Amino acid sequence: MTTEREQWRTRRGFLFAAIGSAIGLGNIWRFSYMTYTNGGAAFLIPYIFALVTAGIPILILEFGLGHRMGAAAPLAFRRIHQRWEILGWWPIIFIMLGIQLYYTVIIGWCVDYLAYSVRLAWGTDANAFFFKQFLQLSAGPWEVGKPVGLIVLGVAIVWAANWLICTKGIQKGVERACQVFMPLLFILITLLIVRGFTLPGAKQGLLWYLKPDFSRLTDLGVWRSAYSQTFFSLSIAFGIMITYASYLPRRSDITGSAIITAFSDAGFSIFAGLAVFTTLGFMAHTSGLPFEKVVTEGIGLAFVAYPRAINAMPYLPAVFGVAFFLALILAGLSSSVSILEAFATSLMDEYGIGRRLTITLSCLGGFFLSLIFTTRGGLFWLDIVDHYILQYGLVVVGLLECLVVGWVLGADTLRHHVNSTSVIQIGRVWDFCVKYLTPAILGFILVGTLIEEIRAPYGGYPRAATLLIGVGWLAATLLVAWFITTRRKGLDVEHLLEGL
Ligand code: PHE
Repeated sequence: MTTEREQWRTRRGFLFAAIGSAIGLGNIWRFSYMTYTNGGAAFLIPYIFALVTAGIPILILEFGLGHRMGAAAPLAFRRIHQRWEILGWWPIIFIMLGIQLYYTVIIGWCVDYLAYSVRLAWGTDANAFFFKQFLQLSAGPWEVGKPVGLIVLGVAIVWAANWLICTKGIQKGVERACQVFMPLLFILITLLIVRGFTLPGAKQGLLWYLKPDFSRLTDLGVWRSAYSQTFFSLSIAFGIMITYASYLPRRSDITGSAIITAFSDAGFSIFAGLAVFTTLGFMAHTSGLPFEKVVTEGIGLAFVAYPRAINAMPYLPAVFGVAFFLALILAGLSSSVSILEAFATSLMDEYGIGRRLTITLSCLGGFFLSLIFTTRGGLFWLDIVDHYILQYGLVVVGLLECLVVGWVLGADTLRHHVNSTSVIQIGRVWDFCVKYLTPAILGFILVGTLIEEIRAPYGGYPRAATLLIGVGWLAATLLVAWFITTRRKGLDVEHLLEGL
């Protein structure tokens, strides 16, 4: 490319953006529930173990690779060897044409719920409101139905926000937005924690969240959960962190940044869990229901359990509703921007097209493709596609990424590069993690998931639905990635012939 590559303006700006990608919906609604079901505070042992043995080493790998190659994932892997270019494209395609399409829909729901919070529009039956009135959920994945108007509106707003941020570029767009979003998010969660702690039942909620049960540590499933949560939460094995690091100036502290990003993300998860569980404790207290009945994860937590708790709050419930959904929107947007940025940078690197055009086309295309998840059957589709991309796509990419960098590029080569520019020096133990330990663990996770899958199809859906929607979606993204790579090779041949 002839034009000079953009750069982050400050190190702090880069850190905010990387942390913004890592901190997302998963930190707020997934981590705390996982801790609760996997042994309370005892879960922190496998979680921190996973962070140190896989999360931080791979984050160093991705930051190092992006920094060294000065390119988004596809070109970065091509610079290792042309054969591995597809390993850059595949995750970029499955996050943009997969995760991003429903992630933006969930943020869109939050936008609608932000408006609902003002007058607690969900009424007394938050469950029926969410599933029947809001989503108008159909009977199953095969009953798709039409897109739901209000949801489409929310999603359009989210894509417009993505567009606004990313067209402005790295410094003026992503960096600036994340420098506002992240501190604001922190303030909102602090507000929710203070509110949570002052409600009756909060203490009991905390006990449920953190009471350690060390016997759970002998369960391999608990360790598997810790690893998959680490990968998802740090946004690694998606090509995102490679892209963000490709905008770093030559002299940058890679290792320090990886450590700060990883611990900020983990710290924020634990912190957000305090807000969630004190509030759930309060819910159990006021409703008189047993705790197992009030605690749910993910969508149920944000759109049913939390609104119920807000209903019961004594003072200014609307304020806490707005704070909660705004927090989800900020956390979600800064992650969704990172996906768009990774995708668009890959296209810009590859085809040399301008930023504005690339982002505009990506947002328009993304918006239209998101519509499938705004339909009445959308939630089923979302659930199935999410499972297959995360349990298979992510794990396979993480595994191959380690092997290709560890063995083809050479772990020591990248380690020397990272050490040459970082304050903290990493030793051979990093090579060991990348070459043996992490791939072995990921391989083990993959086999475990496959065995479960063979025993019973995911989520109790009909086998045909999981195969067609889940496996089919993942296979389609692989096909797109394959198509892009082979077409490129064709172009290369032409180029070579021209040269003769
Ligand atoms: N890290 C985000 C979260 O915890 C999820 C995410 C994954 C975001 C991949 C972007 C890309 O919610």
